[in-house]
Amino acid sequence: MTATEIVAVRGRRVWDSRGRPTVEAEVTLSGGARRRAIAPAGASVGSGEAVDLRDGGSRFGGADVMKAVGNVNGAIANTLRGRDARDQKSIDDTLIALDRTPDKARLGANAMIATSMAVLHAAAAAADMPLYAYLLGDRPAAMPIPEVQIFGGGAHAGRRVDIQDFMVVAPKARSFAEALDWTAEIYRAAGAMMRETGRLQGVADEGGFWPAFDSNTAALDALMGAIERAGFTPGDEISISLDVAASDFYRDGAYRLALDGRVLDSDAMSAMLIDWLDRYPIVSIEDPLAEHDAAGLTRFTKAVGHRVQIVGDDFLVTDAARVRRAAAMPACNAVLVKPNQVGTVSEAKAAVEAARAARWGAIVSARSGETEDVTIVHLAVGWSVLQLKVGSFARSERMAKWNEALRIEEALGSRTRFAGFEPWRGQVLAFRK
Ligand code: PGA
Ligand code: ZN
Repeated sequence: MTATEIVAVRGRRVWDSRGRPTVEAEVTLSGGARRRAIAPAGASVGSGEAVDLRDGGSRFGGADVMKAVGNVNGAIANTLRGRDARDQKSIDDTLIALDRTPDKARLGANAMIATSMAVLHAAAAAADMPLYAYLLGDRPAAMPIPEVQIFGGGAHAGRRVDIQDFMVVAPKARSFAEALDWTAEIYRAAGAMMRETGRLQGVADEGGFWPAFDSNTAALDALMGAIERAGFTPGDEISISLDVAASDFYRDGAYRLALDGRVLDSDAMSAMLIDWLDRYPIVSIEDPLAEHDAAGLTRFTKAVGHRVQIVGDDFLVTDAARVRRAAAMPACNAVLVKPNQVGTVSEAKAAVEAARAARWGAIVSARSGETEDVTIVHLAVGWSVLQLKVGSFARSERMAKWNEALRIEEALGSRTRFAGFEPWRGQVLAFRK
């Protein structure tokens, strides 16, 4: 018996940052290594995502996960016992075969991703290595650039504004730590501005300030103001990144901007965003058009894909095949990587590899429903994905991840470089090795 044989897989119900039940899996290996991981959960969910298994009924609004926990303790544990935890791909293939559905509905993507990540953690622990180092092997390390939300919106803030994430990136920072230092000043400045203008109403789901604005561009103007108040020049040290999450307000072929009181067709929506690109230093824009508006996404990519990163989240759902199809259209030039959108670590890695092959950018991302689990930070560094998005600069489920990245940067010391934001072309360079 090797030290890396799986001897036990245990599931339990724990709670996420919205107070909803979620699945934790704990894997024990023959050599004594024992590690756990927790499934996150989304609120603005793409229709092509792998689905969480929720119990339904009245308990916790139908969101309980005891069936998924039961699957970890039952079918999954029984099947994985005796398997070598180092064979991540084969373990994930086994989970996929056991599930037998296209959307992971039988076992539950929540049961599967928690197990898949816990197996990976246990294998790294058995090798006595931090997870990022276990994944990196001999390859050189690079720290990703953090994309940090300042104002939350969309489905994370009762649709108070239409746009979901108003974020900043610090392309000129010299390290991950410095990028966070600058971001902290901007977050503080934004809070002070909100207080002074009587708009401070707490924070949204990912810790960004609650967006008490009269229009979507008022939020953009406030973001510019916060960057300047913190002593930075927008477009120089600090640039803007948006997640429009447009699928959330697309109905019957039209974009319905509730805050601005406008109904736009695909071309008008594109034109509005291109006008924003001209007026604000936006370097990245996620889901600018809806997941079911592939033609619009293609037109938008052809129009501005040479000058801005266009990220597919709902449109690509961390699916390697979708990335390949989109690259051929072309629609988008970067993929958001959320492991629970697809259900296993190996499938998420395949999406990263598909992006790399297409010379696209990639961003490892958290969900709006999160926990203290910091696995995604290790995946970003370990897979050399050069951008990391985990929400805002408040709430411990977010800070746990930023803080873990600080520890990794410190441990790597001079053996790492900071990616900065060299949009997707920079990614290509890093991917080429
Ligand atoms: P979700 O959204 O986690 O609520 O689905 C986050 C995002 O759209 O990036
Ligand atoms: Zn998104």
